[in-house]
Amino acid sequence: MRADSKPLLAPHAHTKAGPDHFSVKGVEVSVDYVGNGARHVERMISSLDGRRSAAEIASHHGIGLEELRALLAHLHDEGLLLDTAIAAHEYDSVASFLEALRLERRFWGRHIFAQKFWMDLRSGAAPLSTVLGWGVEFYHYVAHADEYMAAGVAYCSDTWVTRQWVAQQFVEEAGHGEIFLEGLVGCGLSRSRIREAPPLPATRALMNALTESAIEGPLEYTACFALTQPESSAPSLAEQERFYGELSRYYPGAASLFRAFLRHARIDSELHHERTILEKILEARDEVDRSSREAIIRSIRRLAEYFVMFFEQISDYYANPHHQFPRRAPTMMELLRT
Ligand SMILES: [Fe+2]
Repeated sequence: MRADSKPLLAPHAHTKAGPDHFSVKGVEVSVDYVGNGARHVERMISSLDGRRSAAEIASHHGIGLEELRALLAHLHDEGLLLDTAIAAHEYDSVASFLEALRLERRFWGRHIFAQKFWMDLRSGAAPLSTVLGWGVEFYHYVAHADEYMAAGVAYCSDTWVTRQWVAQQFVEEAGHGEIFLEGLVGCGLSRSRIREAPPLPATRALMNALTESAIEGPLEYTACFALTQPESSAPSLAEQERFYGELSRYYPGAASLFRAFLRHARIDSELHHERTILEKILEARDEVDRSSREAIIRSIRRLAEYFVMFFEQISDYYANPHHQFPRRAPTMMELLRT
């Protein structure tokens, strides 16, 4: 945390104050302060809005910058705090910018997985309609790769090496929508009705954002995958088997969909996508200039916002038993009948 860093507390974090302690909680993480530290953090927590600098916050609350740094370091280490000014900082090497980027990806990745949809899903509390609705929306999102990845290749203005990377990724990902379609059919849904179901507006917005990033340029485009692979090491296959096995026990009616997720995870792990294309592009450069840093960060934050809306709308729409499932576009005949 630098003097000109602008700390942002994770939007999903919640706080609890006691007589001599103060806790900041995220999902499966908690940072506890006691004594003076608790009083300082409680007073300054609302200033962690990503707009004020660390130096301003320290002077406003009458504490030293070093002390502020030490207090915030705990939140930062747990992924509950982001420096929103990372694009504006100077970096002495590409590696140091990549490290800042790693924290940015982790922060937004965890925020996305802290949404109500994931909390309900993981606790077994989601209605089956929400789980299957997620499958349908996820199918649309994955199937859209056949379009936006083609645009990503077409608009790739970087070196031929980069174009080859993005082209290879397109080839590897193309057609993966079919895996999820089969999974949903195995849950008893009609193949044609899934394909014809109009995506929810937030899903369509997410798909459009990916296409926009693809058209903007290779940094904006590949930054999207830096977000979809937010942790430096992807969960192992054994962890994923455990996760989807547990979900299948909670939601036996969606077991075929979870088998599809697992099948897809196996394909990804065989392709060894540990290092993102964005990292490979940046590592080949001597430096990452400010406008490139801004383009990357802008793209990651925009996509994070669209993912949050994607999951919010899945929870809102599919949990309502009065809503159509799968969704159907109104036809002229139906409109004439009403
Ligand atoms: Fe895939």
